[in-house]
Amino acid sequence: SETGSLSIIVLGASGDLAKKKTFPALFNLYHQGFLNPDEVHIFGYARSKISDEELRDKIHGYLVDEKNASEKAEALSKFLKLIKYVSGPYDSEEGFKRLDKAISEHEISKKTSEGSSRRLFYLALPPSVYPSVSKMIKAWCTNKSDLGGWTRIVVEKPFGKDLESAEQLSSQIGALFDEPQIYRIDHYLGKELVQNMLVLRFANRLFLPLWNRDNIANVQIVFREDFGTEGRGGYFDEYGIIRDIIQNHLLQVLCLVAMEKPISLKPEHIRDEKVKVLQSVIPIKDEEVVLGQYEGYRDDPTVPNDSNTPTFATTILRIDNERWEGVPFILKAGKAMSSKKADIRIQFKDVPGDIFKCQNQGRNEFVIRLQPSEAMYMKLTVKQPGLEMQTVQSELDLSYKQRYQGVSIPEAYERLILDTIRGDQQHFVRRDELKAAWEIFTPLLHRIDKGEVKSIPYKQGSRGPAEADQLLKKAGYMQTHGYIWIPPTL
Ligand code: BG6
Repeated sequence: SETGSLSIIVLGASGDLAKKKTFPALFNLYHQGFLNPDEVHIFGYARSKISDEELRDKIHGYLVDEKNASEKAEALSKFLKLIKYVSGPYDSEEGFKRLDKAISEHEISKKTSEGSSRRLFYLALPPSVYPSVSKMIKAWCTNKSDLGGWTRIVVEKPFGKDLESAEQLSSQIGALFDEPQIYRIDHYLGKELVQNMLVLRFANRLFLPLWNRDNIANVQIVFREDFGTEGRGGYFDEYGIIRDIIQNHLLQVLCLVAMEKPISLKPEHIRDEKVKVLQSVIPIKDEEVVLGQYEGYRDDPTVPNDSNTPTFATTILRIDNERWEGVPFILKAGKAMSSKKADIRIQFKDVPGDIFKCQNQGRNEFVIRLQPSEAMYMKLTVKQPGLEMQTVQSELDLSYKQRYQGVSIPEAYERLILDTIRGDQQHFVRRDELKAAWEIFTPLLHRIDKGEVKSIPYKQGSRGPAEADQLLKKAGYMQTHGYIWIPPTL
């Protein structure tokens, strides 16, 4: 692996994303020994004029919790000392020149660096400033060492609001940096069970013959949260649930469920296959969309009183290829729902010539619970134990907490940031992939923005609008009655 000085620059250092995700992930990497204290330095950059100490105080509380504070105290104080703060605007040379100077001083001070310089810029910023910030980084802050190293930038969604704005952003950034330098984060790609998808699908003989339209009736990818848009109403109202969750997180998961086997595990091969899936999706029909908005959403003072922004959506995507023609992929996401979870649910077709007459008990389903309580379970029909010949729904259950006791599952951001340092783009969204994703949703989004597709009100803490369940039924999803999977407790 590479050595030499490593500067990680968090732009937007006092913002929400940086505090809640970026710095904690960096600290965890540091604590686990993935950031060499002889090489690394961390810079925060933002507009507010605060001192190093003030920045450290701001983020401190997010890095450890009460339970592990004492055990991590020493690492924490060492980590905080690595952080320097530079203040400046996002569009003026002067700030970025100062930033460059601070980075260069650090590079010179690191004895082991032998001149090489690795610079990772993490843009924890609103996308409106991406173009100007990228320009400044390119002009003033790229690595200068002849002895190697690199400059990389990490960007977060929203990457634009529709196809056109996304493409514009891509070309602005693309004019400054090459694709291998650009890491577009979709943090769902850093989740353990999402990363497991490729292994599951392509390393198990069991699934190979089943994974197609001959056997699978429908696929659901579902995200629910049991809280609303608290505190983010302003941001959210401009985007809505499709841009916030479905067009990126759920669609990325869909790619991994539906893609063909890549030629190899090289990031380019994997991403080639994902793009093909996206390009095979046919236009979404209005009658295969149900939008919802929870009651009380508009009470947020930053949300307009007549907002049509969906906080819930169910949309059916259809992949027009040999493997999937006719299989509905149901993507569903909602805020302020009855529970908080995300899962993938593969429902198989009925058994032909059913001699047990048990089909109304439920179909075989393979469920991948992404969070919480990571698990994979397969719903099966078995003989009800006992003297009678009766059937019952049961399951084969691989629950991670139980099966992998003592293993802690890394946070998505930890893993992804480590990938950016190592230069592995497999779990990042490529430019053509992003474009294909926007192509799928842009026509629908424009109709929603114009008010042509309306959001149906639903109660907070509910399952969302009843129309969504009707749509599922119409799409052929059969709900299992009288059976519920209970995550095992230790
Ligand atoms: C973010 C969305 O990308 O993902 C949020 O902007 C959402 O609205 C979050 O709450 C969910 O992420 P996770 O990892 O908690 O499922």
